[in-house]
Amino acid sequence: MPRSSGPVDSPARLSLISRHLAPSYPLNTPYTVERHPDNIDTSLLPKTQTRALTTDANSSAKMSTQPEHPTLLIPGPIEFDDAVLNSMSHYSESHVGPAFVNVFGETLSMLRKLFQTTDSSAQPFVLSGSGTLGWDLVAANLIEPGEDALVLSTGYFGDGFADCLKVYGANVTQISAEPGSRPQLPEIEKALSEKKYKLLTVTHVDTSTGVLSELKNLSELVHRVSPDTLVIVDGVCSVACEEIDFDAWKLDGVVTASQKAIGCPAGLSISMFSGRAIQAFQNRQTPPTSYFASMKNWLPIMQNYEAKKPSYFATPSPQLVRALHTALTQIVAQGVKERFAAHKAASDKIKAAIAALGLKQVAANPDDQAHGMTAIYLPENVKGAELLPKLGARGVVFAGGIHKAIAAKYIRFGHMGVSVLDPSRGHVEKAIKALEEGLSECGYQKA
Ligand SMILES: Cc1ncc(COP(=O)(O)O)c(C=O)c1O
Repeated sequence: MPRSSGPVDSPARLSLISRHLAPSYPLNTPYTVERHPDNIDTSLLPKTQTRALTTDANSSAKMSTQPEHPTLLIPGPIEFDDAVLNSMSHYSESHVGPAFVNVFGETLSMLRKLFQTTDSSAQPFVLSGSGTLGWDLVAANLIEPGEDALVLSTGYFGDGFADCLKVYGANVTQISAEPGSRPQLPEIEKALSEKKYKLLTVTHVDTSTGVLSELKNLSELVHRVSPDTLVIVDGVCSVACEEIDFDAWKLDGVVTASQKAIGCPAGLSISMFSGRAIQAFQNRQTPPTSYFASMKNWLPIMQNYEAKKPSYFATPSPQLVRALHTALTQIVAQGVKERFAAHKAASDKIKAAIAALGLKQVAANPDDQAHGMTAIYLPENVKGAELLPKLGARGVVFAGGIHKAIAAKYIRFGHMGVSVLDPSRGHVEKAIKALEEGLSECGYQKA
């Protein structure tokens, strides 16, 4: 399937999606600034967290002030926290004014905590664009035309990363796994010992299959067998819900986006690169092969923003960056380890409920199963095009399959961010109930 045609969607599902796009949110709700003892602005925290952190007896507050709408449980974009959404209503401000420069600088510093890096040579980037821009950033800056890249593919997005690298002239070798599994270390070791690769890419969670790749042992292998090869991770569907220990695992690049587990509206490409990756960029023999995605253009801007100095290459979106700042404030206040553990606990429950319904996952091996989404095989006689509208009628939006080899045979359930971190929303229970009832209406009975 050509990438431009997007996910496989039935007309019924498309109309569901367009209905979902309709509501206008009350973006102008004023909020007062309270300070938590650790100097965290408590107005930015979810109400559940605020109550835990303050003595404020706000216990009867509604968990979300957003209008009723279908619960979006696709693997990104995800449901928003109210404070994140409210940040988007900030009045217009200069992108080089002191208030915004301060917010952008803090945002970059908080990203270091999210990626668990304290290495000052590592560099965060926040650019206007979607997750795909991260691929371009890697392809245009970290590899030169004619150099070799090894791409590990566990689905649609691994294949996409390979396509992007080819567009920039990289010579790509791809190791692709069968749908539902991942390339194994011996095969990767063999490939690494046969050729000198400038970089290796791995999709941490391929959103088309729900397969989780293991990063720690993979990076150890690359450093042992081919120490100069950069280890680059597509973390679009894993950052903020799966453990990523940037320094300890010696990663060279993790690219992600705002709209998945980070819980922010779509529109930001977010990445972290190691000092080694930045050095590889600086050692290029040829100029970067993109203008907008050039690290030459963005590196000084990111460094200046983090040092709270105004700087300009291309206009950032102050509203989106403010939303990201709020999302990261919440993540850092919760603690990243706690966040990963909460996603794992929710995922374990969801996977147990799915097994109890007699359903199998696309990712067959439990160690290869993502914690922020589940790709679920449909029973033999049930079609996604029939089931998804039945979930929609129950106020739940799941996604259809997008891996071309199995697209019609499975559906995808995203369980990231507030939908699992704020149990009072009841999203998980609502989704499991809708799935059970929808399947039964389709004539499915557990054997
Ligand atoms: C793993 C992965 N990589 C890359 C992308 C591309 O991100 P975007 O659609 O934000 O451009 C996605 C999108 O879902 C993804 O899931």
